[in-house]
This record gives sequence, C-alpha cells and structure tokens, in this order.
Amino acid sequence: MTERTLSIIKPDGVARGVMGEVIRRFESEGIRIAAMKMIHMTQAQAEGFYAVHKERPFFGSLTEFMSSGPCVVMILEGENVIAKNRELMGATNFKEAAPGTIRADFATDIEKNVVHGSDAPETAAFEMGYFFNNFEIVG
Ligand code: CMP
Repeated sequence: MTERTLSIIKPDGVARGVMGEVIRRFESEGIRIAAMKMIHMTQAQAEGFYAVHKERPFFGSLTEFMSSGPCVVMILEGENVIAKNRELMGATNFKEAAPGTIRADFATDIEKNVVHGSDAPETAAFEMGYFFNNFEIVG
C-alpha cells in the first residue's frame, strides 16, 4: 500500500553534514520525497510536535535540542514507507540500531539520533499536518 510518513533530519544531522546522505538513502530505496523544507523551530513549536512525550523525563531536553538549530522536514511516500523508514533509521537508541542503519552510522546519543520518523499512520497524519499544508505536497 502506498502511504506517506513524516521524516525529520534533526539539528545534529544537519550540523554534521549528513543531510545529503540521509536523502540519498531514501531515494536509493525508491522512496519519493513528496514535500521538503528547512525549518528552525522555537521550543514551543517543538513542544507541540512532541506533545505525546510531555510527561517523559527527557521532554525538556528533547525540545531544547530540537529547537537548537535547523532541521529538514520531509514527507516520504512509497509502499509501506512508515515501516521502511523506521527500518532505514534503526532503533531510537543508536547502540541498539542494526548495522548499516542511519542511526547506527551517524547517531552519537539516544537524543541526538539524527532522524525522526512517524511510527504509525495516525501519528504520520498528525506530524505531516503539523509542518505542511496541501499546497506544499507535490506530485
Ligand atoms: P524520536 O524518534 O524523535 O522520538 C522521541 C525522541 O526523544 C527520540 O527520537 C530521541 O531523540 C529522544 N529521546 C531522548 N531520550 C530518550 C529515551 N530515553 N527514550 C526514547 N527517546 C528518547
């Protein structure tokens, strides 16, 4: 089934110059980029995005990090792209991420883990709508 998901290259990924490599991995898997832009979130915007985590102990640190510099936000489209993107990213904790995944290759910390990807169709719908309107989704 063709579906869409939200991907973010986090501030650590942008700062370390792996934007191109992350996008290359998506494209080489046949994933289509249906929308893309750079943003620099305020902490309040990051709090809105990560609202599901607001009771977690890492919420303050996470939203501070996510607003510390520019991110790339993208809508990825393809067959089973929600699961495929999560496979390409690897586990949240880079120490548990499978070899060859984005997080295994580039993450330095459980928080500074280079990329974010939606985990289910419902979260994908919320997350895509958080950053993009219909006119920004192409093709
Ligand atoms: P992400 O997939 O964007 O979803 C929530 C983020 O919180 C996660 O990636 C990490 O960047 C961050 N995080 C920090 N500490 C933890 C933790 N202990 N468990 C899960 N996520 C964490």
